Amino acid sequence: MCGIVGYIGNQNAYPILIKGLHRLEYRGYDSAGIALTSQNGNLSIYKTKGRVADLEEFCKNKDISGTIGIAHTRWATHGEPNNINAHPHYSESENIALIHNGIIENYAVLKQQLIQNGYHFQSNTDTEVLVQLIEYIKILNKTDLFHAVQLTLNEIIGAYAIAVIEKGKTDEIIVARKSSPLVLGIGDDEYFIASDASPIIEYTNKVIYLEDEEIALVSRNEKPKIVTVKNIEKTHEIIQLEMNLSQLEKGGYDHFMLKEIFEQPQTLRDCMRGRIDVSFNHVVLSGIIDHKERFLNARRIIILACGTSWHAGLVGKYLFESFCKIPVEVEYSSEFRYRNPVIYQDDVVIAISQSGETADTLAAIELARKSGAFIYGICNVVGSSIARNTHTGSYTHVGPEIGVASTKAFTAQLVVLSMMSLCLGREKRTIDEKRYRELLKELNHIPEKVETILKSNDSINDLSKIFTYAHNFIYLGRGFNYPVALEGALKLKEISYIHAEGYPAAEMKHGPIALIDMEMPVVAIATDNKMYDKVISNIQEIKARNGCVIAVVNENDTIIKSIADYVIEVPSTEDCFEPLLNIIPLQLLSYHIAVNKKRDVDMPRNLAKSVTVE
Ligand code: F6R
Repeated sequence: MCGIVGYIGNQNAYPILIKGLHRLEYRGYDSAGIALTSQNGNLSIYKTKGRVADLEEFCKNKDISGTIGIAHTRWATHGEPNNINAHPHYSESENIALIHNGIIENYAVLKQQLIQNGYHFQSNTDTEVLVQLIEYIKILNKTDLFHAVQLTLNEIIGAYAIAVIEKGKTDEIIVARKSSPLVLGIGDDEYFIASDASPIIEYTNKVIYLEDEEIALVSRNEKPKIVTVKNIEKTHEIIQLEMNLSQLEKGGYDHFMLKEIFEQPQTLRDCMRGRIDVSFNHVVLSGIIDHKERFLNARRIIILACGTSWHAGLVGKYLFESFCKIPVEVEYSSEFRYRNPVIYQDDVVIAISQSGETADTLAAIELARKSGAFIYGICNVVGSSIARNTHTGSYTHVGPEIGVASTKAFTAQLVVLSMMSLCLGREKRTIDEKRYRELLKELNHIPEKVETILKSNDSINDLSKIFTYAHNFIYLGRGFNYPVALEGALKLKEISYIHAEGYPAAEMKHGPIALIDMEMPVVAIATDNKMYDKVISNIQEIKARNGCVIAVVNENDTIIKSIADYVIEVPSTEDCFEPLLNIIPLQLLSYHIAVNKKRDVDMPRNLAKSVTVE
């Protein structure tokens, strides 16, 4: 939700900021803007509705000099995406420029007070209130910008990551964060500021992650001064990033999403590396082993997540209940946080989040922590807020996921959940040793089976052409494949804008079957597991009503091949690992349909990769 970038050093700021915005564009892309302070202290803002490329066009023939600047790519919350609501925003005197990621909840009251004090507002944003208030407080208290920002943030309710610069001040940027991420990159006599490390990695791998309610004064050639909003001094460990630049490029693919789908054999191997001891065929997950007692004594597991990560959590429920015999509840973080949930001290909470920044999941784990529950995080982004706010956890290690539609992070989340449930089941002795070893052996073979499925990319592309103009889709699955149906439907709707619903196959007859006709493609996940015969009956019910069935089946299937209109083959595996394979053709199908429809696959409308607002 909005990307922010800043630079102060000896190089021209503009190219660094623009490149940084391109890297962060996945966070929001409805408008973009930049503020630069030139050598003589002039402060200029350039901003426009649209993408970063539109901003570059807009900046042609403008004065883009200066070695200090801040820039923003927006995902609108308050105020429609237009030129005026784009960031940066000026203060009343146009002496201060500010960019913001987050939501100021008490903006309406503050705005009213500022209007009464003679301030005028150009935009409909909550952000403009922040910059106006900083100026008001600065003048009222006759203080400098840093202290004005600090005083202002004490008046603010809500979430923010901000960067602020001032006319005439060519040597400082002030940044602060609460509930929205902010990273400070440390170069040689230069500093980089960003919402995540991707704009920074090109220049330095040394970073500091600011904590909630911290403000930093970032000055040229000086160590950043970091204090809290309550003025307590803070020192920070400098972290060495392990990310590399090639992970941020498309590497010859047309879209990041396709690249990320094809990376999955490797990302699954990376996720398992060092965690499955191949010679002894044994899972070594320190997060579980080091906190064995918490897990062994868990009354219940609560899984908290949103979107695709929630779908992974649902597979997790089936895994933990099967192998560990622990009751599991899977909750949408956004519902959990506001419904007075009963949380016991002996609950284990597993928070799943690719970005590690999802505001609802962060708030939900905070609630669980206050009730004494033990919190385990499954995150992809190293050092992210959720990763830092859990007692322990496992990273998915898939590298940056840039396509807005989550693919490789989902399958890696499934692998982590599989390893966790097997590890815990063994510790609890709720899974027998022989079965445990068989399952681990099979888990090790999953990456090569994914490779086999990816070879069907061309035939899935051919199939996609038949359905490009469908208006609705239904996805059906049972057992472990029910969450796959939900995830397949989500993938299709978010990037192709075709309405799609995922349903438990047997629930069709309780209502949705009324929708079935020749115009409604039904994707049935029908691989050979203990529900196979039941799913055949569900497919027959659809065919009896003239429905058009695309079935995901195993290679040796004969029965469904004779009933369904189209089939996509996948290798067979254990029931519990089927989601890892069956989702792959559904990712590809959505991708190709979206490309056929000329959709912006990596940046679908209205979405953003990292949802740091409620
Ligand atoms: C869908 C998608 C979203 C995210 C959701 C949670 O493809 O990416 O539904 O899964 O916004 O995000 P994280 O996992 O970052 O907490």
